[in-house]
Amino acid sequence: MDGGRRPEQTKSNQGNSLLNETPQDSEPYARAYEVQRRAYRVWVHLYDAIYSWFLYFAHRETGRVASQLGTRLLEVGVGTGLMLRYYAPSTEVVGIDLSEEMLQRAKEKQARLPHVKSLQQMDACRLSFADDSFDVAVAPFTISVVPDPLSALDEMARVVRPGGTILIASRFGDESGFVAMLEALARPLFTAIGWGSLIRRSVIENWVNSRDDLELDEVRSLPPLKIFTLIRITRKG
Ligand SMILES: C[S@@+](CC[C@H](N)C(=O)[O-])C[C@H]1O[C@@H](n2cnc3c(N)ncnc32)[C@H](O)[C@@H]1O
Repeated sequence: MDGGRRPEQTKSNQGNSLLNETPQDSEPYARAYEVQRRAYRVWVHLYDAIYSWFLYFAHRETGRVASQLGTRLLEVGVGTGLMLRYYAPSTEVVGIDLSEEMLQRAKEKQARLPHVKSLQQMDACRLSFADDSFDVAVAPFTISVVPDPLSALDEMARVVRPGGTILIASRFGDESGFVAMLEALARPLFTAIGWGSLIRRSVIENWVNSRDDLELDEVRSLPPLKIFTLIRITRKG
């Protein structure tokens, strides 16, 4: 599913309200969710071995920045909990993830991390938290993986308090040119293995611009080799 596009209206979501039947109830989403669940059932066995070093600097920096921005933190797509140790001990962290298997690994780490208050199975596009519940909502390497990134972003904006922050760390797809073309060709493979659609940065920027209550505060590269980007968005107070 392409990162920036809302799904086509289907019979099941025509004129729906986000409060009852949502686009995520539609057939294409159901399939996308199943692909994700299956992919991470496999990734769970390899994830920490590969990503603990590959994402080390990006995780450490994202955790440091998030910890400076508030106490009540939500990590969306917490996965195996690789980033949890980089939040300051003074924070109170809640993590959610779609994959039961990934969450199980995070729960094994939780015992050593008293600042991690709860880890719950939940869809990023349908958070069950009340409005304004968190100071910071962090999505590390999750936003291009969820089947409907715009809904996940809307949900993060909803659960962050006015004056709070949305932090997104990701590898973004190229906007145009040869690499963008290769990425478009590789998209079905990326989707099948759980890497999602390689959302473009402009999708996030357009989303921020479409809302009066948000402000784009910072976009900067993360190590190593500047292949990852950190985006900081403030919900206006
Ligand atoms: C690449 S992993 C990132 C994990 C962790 N944030 C990290 O940086 O190591 C992406 C995670 O997003 C989760 N995910 C995918 N779709 C999701 C959804 N709709 N709601 C919540 N989590 C989702 C996957 O299960 C997976 O654990």
